[in-house]
Amino acid sequence: METTLVTQSLDRVEADAVVVLLFEEETAPAELKGSSAWLDELRSSGEFTGKTGELAVQHQPQGLKAKRLAVAGGGKRDKFDAAVLRRAVGTAVRALKQKGVKKLAWWLGDANAEAAVEGAILGNFEPDRYKTSSDAKSLEAFVLVAPDSARAAFERGKILGDAQNFTRELVNEPANVMTPTLLAERAKAMAAEVGLEYEVLDEPRMRQLGMGSLLGVSQGSAEPPALIILRYKPLQAPKTSDHLGLVGKGVTFDTGGVSIKPAEGMEKMKYDMAGGAAMLGAMRAIAQLKPAIPVTALIPAVENMVGGKAQRPGDIVTSLSGKTIEVLNTDAEGRLILVDALTYAQRLGCTHLVDAATLTGAIVVALGNVNIGVFTNNDALLARVLAAAKAEGEKSWHMPLDDDYKDLLKSAFADLANIGGRWGGAISAAYFLKEFAGDTPWVHLDIAGTAWLDESKPFLAKGP
Ligand code: BES
Ligand code: ZN
Ligand code: ZN
Repeated sequence: METTLVTQSLDRVEADAVVVLLFEEETAPAELKGSSAWLDELRSSGEFTGKTGELAVQHQPQGLKAKRLAVAGGGKRDKFDAAVLRRAVGTAVRALKQKGVKKLAWWLGDANAEAAVEGAILGNFEPDRYKTSSDAKSLEAFVLVAPDSARAAFERGKILGDAQNFTRELVNEPANVMTPTLLAERAKAMAAEVGLEYEVLDEPRMRQLGMGSLLGVSQGSAEPPALIILRYKPLQAPKTSDHLGLVGKGVTFDTGGVSIKPAEGMEKMKYDMAGGAAMLGAMRAIAQLKPAIPVTALIPAVENMVGGKAQRPGDIVTSLSGKTIEVLNTDAEGRLILVDALTYAQRLGCTHLVDAATLTGAIVVALGNVNIGVFTNNDALLARVLAAAKAEGEKSWHMPLDDDYKDLLKSAFADLANIGGRWGGAISAAYFLKEFAGDTPWVHLDIAGTAWLDESKPFLAKGP
């Protein structure tokens, strides 16, 4: 899809449809006076009240060059934010492309250009790579009609939208295609495209370093593991010694291992690399947005399988940090691969760590599919992450991580057990990671509930 910004008056816009956002309890802007009878009728009939999610379409609007005029609900103005706009644009894109619209224009006014383009790019995405025929249609062009001062935000939105779709393509790949090796290859190709340094640690190298925790998980698979490392370095020498480390869980398929999962729903476990894919997408955006500090991403990629060489419950492994771990449940594998990556990130000089992982079913029980579970050992870093999430409309909820939870991970035979019992499962998983973050400020995002949509939304396709 071609995405452009034009500065034009509404009546000059040429497109298959031009969309205008209307709020609840507000009158339409003067530019729509040619359609005032239609708008009055929409309101009085109750067909369109301005609520979020609403969309109404008029053909051959008077006084406009566009073939159709659509109005989209913006909700109440005091509740309007980036997330509402992103969804409104996504909803319009998905509804109108199915009606045959190829070129869609969005009349922005003074709203957030970043969120608008992002919504269009995300909404246009279809998970149809493997369909030989598909009913899903696509936009060819999205035109944002906005003042020229919106250009920087517009470019940023394009970068963020494309990066998210890059992530979604990775997550949608089935596990027979998306092996740790392929994830590394895709990361390498992306790094070359946007100008990031790329490195991969293979199995012998990880053995030499002593990443016994990660290797214990991958030993049951015929697919070799990979620790993918991407580095962004700012052009100008940074003013601080800050160095951000992004760590993402890259389990390309999670059968549970010998502590095997039930068959029902197991096919979804291809999305157990969504944290890793999210960090790769973040690095793609970072390479283009060029922040002032260095950022290193580490993606431990493995397949968690059953087999004659698979790790057993009760096995004891030695992590890169030197701490020993009793593997009481082979299905709690995410934390086992993440801790070696967290330790290695600190060795690479990262001063701040953020990890994203589809870590626990328990976070889905706690927060459903709406909020990301956020855990930390550092309130200052937490505040910055939560503020960034809020600005983007990325719903996130701070979860506790008091020292009182430490006892849950006691093992009779090793330094730590890899599971913490029935209650507070997302917290004991996070506490396990915390034991390896040490004094380094760290934020953990449990995205098991938010990385996958079981059903499509009006503004977003089913899937990642
Ligand atoms: N990948 C799963 C977590 C998960 C569950 C992700 C549902 C997405 C949706 C993780 O590796 C796992 O299996 N966790 C176990 C931990 C348990 C054995 C302590 C869980 O949550 O059941
Ligand atoms: Zn698991
Ligand atoms: Zn898992």
